[in-house]
Amino acid sequence: MNILAIESSCDETAAAVVKDGTVILSTAVASSADMHARWGGIVPEVAARKQLEYIIPVLTAALSPLTDRPTQVSADRELFRLITDRIDAVAVTVGPGLVGSLLIGIEAAKCIGWLCDKPMIPVNHVLAHMYANFVADGEIGLKSRSARKQTGPEINNGESIGAGSLVSQSHIQEITFPAISLVVSGGHTELYLMESPKILKWLGGTLDDAAGECLDKTARLIGLGAGGGLAIQNTACTYRPEVDIKFKLPRPLSASHDLNFSFSGLKTAVLREWTKYQGSGDSVMDPRCTPAFANEIQEAVTDVLTDKTANAVGKYHAKSALISGGVAANLRLREKLKHRLAAANCNLYVPPVALCTDNAVYIAAYAYFRGQPTDWQSVTAQPDLTVEVAT
Ligand code: KG4
Ligand code: ZN
Repeated sequence: MNILAIESSCDETAAAVVKDGTVILSTAVASSADMHARWGGIVPEVAARKQLEYIIPVLTAALSPLTDRPTQVSADRELFRLITDRIDAVAVTVGPGLVGSLLIGIEAAKCIGWLCDKPMIPVNHVLAHMYANFVADGEIGLKSRSARKQTGPEINNGESIGAGSLVSQSHIQEITFPAISLVVSGGHTELYLMESPKILKWLGGTLDDAAGECLDKTARLIGLGAGGGLAIQNTACTYRPEVDIKFKLPRPLSASHDLNFSFSGLKTAVLREWTKYQGSGDSVMDPRCTPAFANEIQEAVTDVLTDKTANAVGKYHAKSALISGGVAANLRLREKLKHRLAAANCNLYVPPVALCTDNAVYIAAYAYFRGQPTDWQSVTAQPDLTVEVAT
């Protein structure tokens, strides 16, 4: 079953075609993140306008690898033929997210559903993140032909690959249940019990800021601009414990017995320490401060995420743990969890880095494993869609 998926919940516009929820036939992502970075945050109206600009090029890029004809795929008739012949259903993110951004993807999907007479599968963006773990390894297409235009979107085209050629490498073959799933992104930090690919139960989440939001804001505070968690990770690598300054940040809620998180106090603690080291008046910041701060911020956030995930694994006797979302790309988090869970005899699954941040591949995977097909008329944007499921 080939699913065409569309993702447009925030500042990424993405489309992908995935076979049987596990084999990536194509994927394309365009992002307006660089533009928002200049203003210090996402401007929803601008993000929506960018979605409108990128949606057709991204859909064209995702469908192009499916063609077996030498004709221009941008020709409307060829796109229509490809969808009609090669696509079985259209999945689309309906929430949570920015309403203006969501509407662009949803309207595009509804148009396709109506014109090509395909069933629609509405998808919850946050729950979908975890299904990146079910997709075959190998970063097919994500490594291949990448073309950055001077201005405008970066589109990573997928390569068309032989049907079924990678199914055997998909993690779904080996994941044992029950599994604990940590979804950790810029907007969410949630823990789930996964009894099977279909049965999910929300266990806890952040009471205030998400882990990614904390990394993004503290990165800005310590002078790393809009680089977010990736900049923290890269700067932390340059920390030299023998010569750089040392200090300790709190690990909020680490010792609490529930499975909730809280990251806003950590942000405040970083501000307090930073002000202390910054000195007063015209004094220049000690250059050893930035790597030391990046290191301790990364240690604090990853300690909390590791502790809570390991607690959940112990509590529910989980055989596997899955991580997903942009922060799951963090190498220190992966390292800590791998080490801690090995001691608990629990297998850790992590998606390829390119499938952690927003894309449409996991939207298609979720649609295949857990989606409920419907007709295009009943699909609507749900910006506040709950992530606290229990089915
Ligand atoms: O999943 P995502 O692309 O968007 C949301 O749905 O929110 O996640 C974006 C988040 C940002 O907070 C970003 O700073 C963080 O993922 N991130 C990382 C890394 N790469 C991206 N955090 C830690 N380490 C990374 N390598
Ligand atoms: Zn996301």
